[in-house]
Amino acid sequence: MMKEKLQSIREKALAQINSSDSLEKLNEIRVAYLGKKGELTEVLKGMKDVAAEERPVVGQLVNDTRTAIEEMLEATRNKMAKKMREVQMEREVIDVTLPAKKNLIGHSHPNTVALETVENIFVGMGYEVVEGPEVEYDYYNFEALNIPANHPAKDEQDTFYINSEILLRTQTSSTQIHEMEKGRLPIRMIAPGRVYRSDEVDATHSPCFHQVEGLVVDKNITFADLKGTLAEFARELFGPETKVKFRPHHFPFTEPSAEMDVTCFKCGGKGCRMCKGSGWIEILGCGMVHPNVLRKCNIDPEEYTGFAFGVGLERIALLKYEIDDMRLLYENDARFLKQF
Ligand code: FA5
Ligand code: MG
Repeated sequence: MMKEKLQSIREKALAQINSSDSLEKLNEIRVAYLGKKGELTEVLKGMKDVAAEERPVVGQLVNDTRTAIEEMLEATRNKMAKKMREVQMEREVIDVTLPAKKNLIGHSHPNTVALETVENIFVGMGYEVVEGPEVEYDYYNFEALNIPANHPAKDEQDTFYINSEILLRTQTSSTQIHEMEKGRLPIRMIAPGRVYRSDEVDATHSPCFHQVEGLVVDKNITFADLKGTLAEFARELFGPETKVKFRPHHFPFTEPSAEMDVTCFKCGGKGCRMCKGSGWIEILGCGMVHPNVLRKCNIDPEEYTGFAFGVGLERIALLKYEIDDMRLLYENDARFLKQF
């Protein structure tokens, strides 16, 4: 009678466990059979009615039933937990073939790249990089550079004046004077920076642009040093095959003066759209420092000589990147700038 009861409890419990589908359900089953008011616990309470000699056997049976139910509960609970983990893993799986979210990382502006390239070339030749003020005295921008009062460059149509003595520098050549005034010789410097001219905006002009000035002052500096230095600069900038050509020119602060052309790096000198068919591209103005300029800075032109040059930085950037309109450099259109 007791045995049959236990057997039926056992079968019922195991069947319920088998068909249960959640941890909550398993817990309900546990309470229903093994809890304080559970079916198996009720059976134990009926032990007092069992004959004394049968009690050990029935007790053993009760324990076996309890163990069987507990083990089944435990095994089923583990199976369910494992299954849940698998489902979760599957749901959270990472698809490594999905395209990644891209971080937008900026990069240097073409002007900055051109400036760093120019700086690296001259630093490599032992030059120092210096800077001068953008708001400048007339004296440094014009007078000390041997540019007389009636010179057309001083016209209000070319120069932004703050007042009659102070202006926005129109050329980095003003830094030559600052450097020579320091009274430290020899000098080997480049001076990059912003300059201003009251120019109309077009494909090759901006009212604010950049120049890189160069100045060397030492004993026995000749035009040969100028040519050798600037030819090497051009080769490093545009490639080892680059040839240079010096055309006579005029600047008030150099004598003799020249403009330097380089063989077109696009066509190698044959003539193309880039060089407008000529095979040559003008990149800088240069010359031997005028004795008047040296004298203004208390340097004896009989003892010291020097050369100077001025490069339009935008022009270098346009050439290097084959950009055909300077305005693109200043519009800050990321779609354009991203290309470089
Ligand atoms: C000068 O400014 C002289 N100071 C250069 C120099 C230095 C000669 C030392 C000798 C010794 P120039 O006015 O030609 O020269 O200007 C130099 C370069 O600046 C030009 O070749 C051109 O590339 C650039 N440039 C001139 N005007 C503009 C402008 N409005 N926008 C952009 N670039 C310009
Ligand atoms: Mg010029």
